[in-house]
Amino acid sequence: MTPRKIIIDTDPGQDDAVAILLALASPDEIEVLGITAVAGNVPLPLTQKNARIVCELAGRPDIKVFAGCDAPLSHPLVTAEHVHGKTGLDGPPMTDPTMPLQDQNGVDFIVETLRAEVSGTVTLCPLGPLTNIATALQRAPDIAERVQEIILMGGAYFEVGNITPTAEFNIYVDPEAADIVMKSGIKITFLPLDVTHKALTTQPRVDAFRALGNTVGEMVAAWTGFFERFDKEKYGSAGAPLHDPCVIAYLMWPEIFQGRHINVEIALSDPLTLGMTVADWWRVTDRPANATFIRDMDDEAFYTRLTDRLARF
Ligand code: RIB
Ligand code: CA
Repeated sequence: MTPRKIIIDTDPGQDDAVAILLALASPDEIEVLGITAVAGNVPLPLTQKNARIVCELAGRPDIKVFAGCDAPLSHPLVTAEHVHGKTGLDGPPMTDPTMPLQDQNGVDFIVETLRAEVSGTVTLCPLGPLTNIATALQRAPDIAERVQEIILMGGAYFEVGNITPTAEFNIYVDPEAADIVMKSGIKITFLPLDVTHKALTTQPRVDAFRALGNTVGEMVAAWTGFFERFDKEKYGSAGAPLHDPCVIAYLMWPEIFQGRHINVEIALSDPLTLGMTVADWWRVTDRPANATFIRDMDDEAFYTRLTDRLARF
């Protein structure tokens, strides 16, 4: 099986970091063409730096990391230091990266790569606000038909919002960008809070990361140890949801996930619902299905496979 070519668009973020590690630990299934950073959990100077920290942790300073957009299309940037800490990767002590940031803008890299690769062979994996993806589509509408699929972490329906009562963070930060992506005609799969909230970092799972005995295991345990305090306090849950690695896991192991192909629209007009993903799960409208919306997963299989992959470092 030839590895699937992907571009990871990301706003690290401890959970983004684990997603990047999972992808880099899986060269038989995934070829990471590049990583584009976007403003989200923390501002762009930090997300691009954090992406490089993670690549170096994975022993992959060869991975090309690009800085993309530093602000949403039409709203002031909303960040999530309250969840991820001031650096975006709070938890363990970290040293600055030495690998270079690419000079090319991340949006131009996305456009150039999609035009250069065989049409229909590149999957986009957004793990943060969709600003880079939407800007690339606005700048080069021809790339839409060249994208194999977009598999993104974002949205919420039954689980409702985590940054507002109705909206999930990635969509809320740049709802207009999400709307542009939804209207692009590209095959889209959502990994929303409805499913990621079932991927909890329980203590035995964090202990299993630490028991790997490698630096990656130590770092992931420390990151999840920091990251989970917010969700455990807010939801009273047994751990924090490891949102973004669900995107990479779905790409490799779709059989451990369940969802429906339905209509999903982005609410844009009312401040109360801005950024809400209105998922017609029960098909009560005649709006055409435009996305696969994942609602359930085998979380035991997910953590077993994730931990096995992290053991490879
Ligand atoms: O709402 C969760 C999402 O927002 C995750 O991608 C997390 O990293 C933040 O970007
Ligand atoms: Ca993220």
